[in-house]
Amino acid sequence: MEKNPTISRRSFVKGIAAGGAGLLILPSGALFGQTAPSNKLNVALIGTWGRAEAHYEGLKKENVVALCDVDEDHLAFAAKTFPDAKTYVDWRECLDQKDIDAVVCCTPDSTHAFIGVWAMNRGYHLYLEKPCGLSVEEARLVRETYLKNKGKLAVQHGTQRHAKPNFNRVRELIQDGVIGDLESACAWGDRQLRKPGYPPAAGEPPKSLHYDLWIGPSPHHPYNPDYFSGSSGMNCLQWNMYWDFGAGQVGDMGSHTMDLVWNAIDAKLPVSAKASGEAFNPEVTPVELTMTFNLPANTWRPAIEVSWYQGGAMPRPPMECVDLAKIDHGALFKGSKGHLICSFDDRLILPSDDSADMTYYKPRPEDQLIAPLGNFQQEWIDACKGDLKTSCDLEYGGDKMEMMLLGLVAYRVGKELDYDGAAGRVTNSDEANELLHRTYRPGWVLNG
Ligand SMILES: NC(=O)c1ccc[n+]([C@@H]2O[C@H](COP(=O)([O-])OP(=O)(O)OC[C@H]3O[C@@H](n4cnc5c(N)ncnc54)[C@H](O)[C@@H]3O)[C@@H](O)[C@H]2O)c1
Repeated sequence: MEKNPTISRRSFVKGIAAGGAGLLILPSGALFGQTAPSNKLNVALIGTWGRAEAHYEGLKKENVVALCDVDEDHLAFAAKTFPDAKTYVDWRECLDQKDIDAVVCCTPDSTHAFIGVWAMNRGYHLYLEKPCGLSVEEARLVRETYLKNKGKLAVQHGTQRHAKPNFNRVRELIQDGVIGDLESACAWGDRQLRKPGYPPAAGEPPKSLHYDLWIGPSPHHPYNPDYFSGSSGMNCLQWNMYWDFGAGQVGDMGSHTMDLVWNAIDAKLPVSAKASGEAFNPEVTPVELTMTFNLPANTWRPAIEVSWYQGGAMPRPPMECVDLAKIDHGALFKGSKGHLICSFDDRLILPSDDSADMTYYKPRPEDQLIAPLGNFQQEWIDACKGDLKTSCDLEYGGDKMEMMLLGLVAYRVGKELDYDGAAGRVTNSDEANELLHRTYRPGWVLNG
């Protein structure tokens, strides 16, 4: 795929900065510099209402040159803040605009892998809201496309809770051995959204809404206003339980809460996955679900089991008196000398037996604590203009989501799956291999 000409402008700016040049005059007469107008990113915001509004403050400091939304009312809403941007209803046309440097994608999940891959293929930096895909195949292609462009593009997977200081503290504690040798870890979420099945046809889409584009690559389902009845930033809960539009809580809070574990364990893809839960519904993803993965050893820990619990399923507490259900979204690490329990903001250490006298553990000196990440969206914007490094790139996020989405396949097949992560194949179930990808409506190309 041919690079966008703006890439060369960016490389040029960066090249000069790296060369340590002093005062430089652009053809326009503007000065280069971190805050000078010439160093603003030209951003396309795709999906402009809802979650997108959480990006407005950061984007106001850049040039938003393109807005894209399938709902023209949402486009008009965003145009009040970004009046100079061109507007689109089809993201494929938006991505053809020639002056784009970077894309922020806040559309529904069923389009994430498409928009993410198309954007990276065109040489655009990318902030991709979670989850990065809805199938194992999508997560893998997103990661592969990122890896092809690593060193050229700054890419962030939108799991902004990662910037909370507790993520660093938990990682330090686990890696410094506060609970001894790590044996297993799990995360859970208690959100329970029950839906009987796809909502039936009801009424006509409003004039402002391009419903066929909203359906996008997914199989067609008739219009029902219920899909659009949620408040700003929460509307995803109106569609993400349905298989054709989401991955339920696995893709939703699972992206964030498993991140508490993933950030601490330095893991790659699992070698097996198994899952159990409520009876399979072909239309709606499960509420109650337990998924367990075997992850290979790495340089500092043995092979471990990692689990995800949701919708009422919970891990066994380390002590009877500990009520894990009091933490809505949390994680539990088990080690040879105790347990660490955490929420997004707090942590609790439970030394477990006579040998766990804590003398083996030396807290880090303050100057060796992991540096705070700062604002998560800003980290990405700075990376686009600087060293291209982000804390949640699509290798880190892609691996995590591939594991989680593989768990949903294990749930559907109802047996433990052996997984060859290098090949992206299940080695003991043809049925599972069929479920690693989604079926798209004709005309929609994932790797375009
Ligand atoms: N990181 C977080 O904490 C967080 C929080 C909420 C939502 N999200 C994610 O953000 C995304 C959006 O969630 P939401 O609740 O804002 O959803 P939403 O249903 O409100 O959709 C967001 C916007 O995208 C537009 N849109 C829908 N399909 C589109 C398409 N094909 N092309 C362009 N625009 C399209 C909608 O009209 C709307 O303006 C989801 O993927 C969700 O997982 C992340």
